[in-house]
Amino acid sequence: MTSDNDRRRGLLARLRGRPVARSRGRRRLGAAVRLAAALMLAGGAYTVFAPGVQAQDNPPLSAAANEGKALFDVSCVTCHGRNAQGVEGRGPSLIGVGSASVEFQVSSGRMPMARQEAQAMRKPPQFTDEQVRQLGQYIQELGGGPQVPQGDLREGANLSTGGELFRINCSQCHAFGAGGGALSSGKYAPSLKPASDRQIYAAMLSGPQNMPVFGDNQISPQEKADIIAYIQETLKHDQDQGGFNLGRYGPSTEGLAIFLVGIVALVFASLWIAGKS
Ligand code: HEC
Ligand code: HEC
Repeated sequence: MTSDNDRRRGLLARLRGRPVARSRGRRRLGAAVRLAAALMLAGGAYTVFAPGVQAQDNPPLSAAANEGKALFDVSCVTCHGRNAQGVEGRGPSLIGVGSASVEFQVSSGRMPMARQEAQAMRKPPQFTDEQVRQLGQYIQELGGGPQVPQGDLREGANLSTGGELFRINCSQCHAFGAGGGALSSGKYAPSLKPASDRQIYAAMLSGPQNMPVFGDNQISPQEKADIIAYIQETLKHDQDQGGFNLGRYGPSTEGLAIFLVGIVALVFASLWIAGKS
């Protein structure tokens, strides 16, 4: 700003120092006009050379993020706002959720949400993998946040550790067989059957809805690989032991079913015997 002041002072000095041979009134008027012109010039110079306030708000985006922004401005902006800062009553801010959350929500078809509902549902995705990546890149560059790593997400996995971790951390909501289950107030933990490796990883990183976030401090990347392998290789390839699985809620449900069927059979048998005698 000093340079502007210097400039302004220089201009004023030049204005004052000029020898003029006109009447006082006209001279004053002329000086006032020139002063105004000089001030406008200085103001103009300031706007041109001052650090752009806008440039600080919007750091340059990468090419992929720009593509993502274009998609976002069409499909997401009504609920999440112009710079993903959220819209009261429609959608939360996406600043800091990271590309992991976007990848989870968009690749599983939950977003764009069709209408306000208690819980966004899994649907066929509306965007290609490439577009999902671009949307994620945009949100990542806007506010940072967790990202799903590239490469094989089951590398060096240990199935039995995975099973143990699954039973401790996930089965209370998603059930022992990962078939899902109801939670309070109309919400539910969905079945994990349709989830891909990347979606499972992204769900753990982002904690959608009522699901807690399992950051790398709680469950290390290697343990995440163990869990993913256990879900994909053990649970999905259901080694069915035969009989009704009854949603795989465990031995008590199956026991209850046998018990009820048995009681009914005994009652009928005794009625039949009583009728005969
Ligand atoms: C009709 C409104 C609506 C539209 C359109 C919409 N969203 Fe959402 N979005 C929501 C609501 C409401 C939630 C929170 C509900 C939930 O978590 O299930 C949400 C949650 C999210 C989240 C999770 C945020 C978090 O905290 O982890 C992400 C990511 C997201 N939206 C991305 C998108 C993207 C990307 C699009 C466009 C392709 C989009 N949304 C379009 C309403 C909308
Ligand atoms: C407190 C209950 C709870 C726990 C514990 C929990 N989840 Fe979830 N999970 C949910 C809910 C609720 C959703 C649905 C979120 C939504 O629809 O926005 C979900 C969604 C998911 C999905 C997405 C399924 C799909 O449709 O693709 C995956 C994958 C997942 N969870 C994996 C896990 C794993 C792995 C663990 C353990 C490390 C775990 N969850 C622990 C409640 C839970």
